[in-house]
Amino acid sequence: MQPVEIKKDIFWVGAVDYDKRDFHGYALSPEGTTYNAYLIKDKKNVLFDSVSKEFADDMLCRLGEALPPEKVDYIVCNHLELDHAGALAELAARCKPEKIFCSQMGMKSMQGYFDCKDWPVQAVKNGEILSIGSRAIQFFETRMLHWPDSMVSYIPEDKLLISNDAFGQNIASTVRYADEVSEEHLLNAVEAYYYNIVLPFSPQVRNALKALGGLDFDMIAPDHGLIHRGKRSVNFILDAYARLAEQKAQRRALVIYDSMWHATEKMACAVADGLEEAGVPSRVMSLKRNHHSQVMTELARCGAVLAGSPTHNNGILPAMAAMLTYMKGLRPKNRVGGAFGSYGWSGEGPKILHDWLASMDMELPAPFVKTQWTPGHEGFGQCRELGKSVGLALTARCGG
Ligand code: FEO
Repeated sequence: MQPVEIKKDIFWVGAVDYDKRDFHGYALSPEGTTYNAYLIKDKKNVLFDSVSKEFADDMLCRLGEALPPEKVDYIVCNHLELDHAGALAELAARCKPEKIFCSQMGMKSMQGYFDCKDWPVQAVKNGEILSIGSRAIQFFETRMLHWPDSMVSYIPEDKLLISNDAFGQNIASTVRYADEVSEEHLLNAVEAYYYNIVLPFSPQVRNALKALGGLDFDMIAPDHGLIHRGKRSVNFILDAYARLAEQKAQRRALVIYDSMWHATEKMACAVADGLEEAGVPSRVMSLKRNHHSQVMTELARCGAVLAGSPTHNNGILPAMAAMLTYMKGLRPKNRVGGAFGSYGWSGEGPKILHDWLASMDMELPAPFVKTQWTPGHEGFGQCRELGKSVGLALTARCGG
């Protein structure tokens, strides 16, 4: 396994996980992912992050092609989540580094995960600069991007930002650079990653973009997926993050539903008709056919959410309950919503959905729609009206 030199004397020494499909145990990663680790050869040889434990041998093999592991002087742990620190114990044993650096919050994670009392661990402060010979490393805390311990490493001499989870995507490939795939492919992967991992921390993203905005870099090397090289690629990902963090309303709607005997499914189609009447395009997604993380990725392009479920045991169907739990945890902002569903006798489902959407601070311009047994002409008309009301409210929110 070969390292890849991304700048002079700076190497990618990570691993590609082509088989990963449940990133962090909850988000689909249909293309797999990578665990990126980097090596700088200087007066002090520095390793940045590691890989998931099962890829420790891959990383050591790749590292060994660039430098004997025992010549690594420093290990920097930008973030201790186990996709980046899983191989740390093995690396520490092989490299016997002079120092292991992490953020102040990182000390807690390190002590929680590892028996590290004999390791030469040192916490660094926000903004602290570490000289490694002809270069310096400046550390910037990026708390909650993605955990409280997260930080990034900036190497001004090389105009390089090693950004850990920030600016990453789940693309497992033989290519290493973002400019080697189409922008459409890249953006889809960036949106999927952002909306499933980063979205709750959008305020922190905005702060980080401000804090890093004054730095001069022409390469962002994240810990997942492809590396952004050159100003065009760097600006592409910075602009994408600024846009995604803003959550500005987009004139497109998402209709999600689950159904037992197709009544709520037909209502979903009528809701989409109403949206179309209001001039708002929509995507209708069955929760039987779409994973919750695919739905969240679609939400990156939609300013409205309409949710439908039949009433089941005085509640809603379990896939919808799971979907709304997942969505609420990711804290989408600035959305318009609507709820609908069929029922046989008790009929609580649509109100429960309505309340879920309200709890996400969505604007709900119309009452929920519920239809008993099989929806007829009147029920479909109410669904179309619901779609139209939401479409008009979204259009107004988007500035007409
Ligand atoms: Fe890629 Fe928060 O770990």
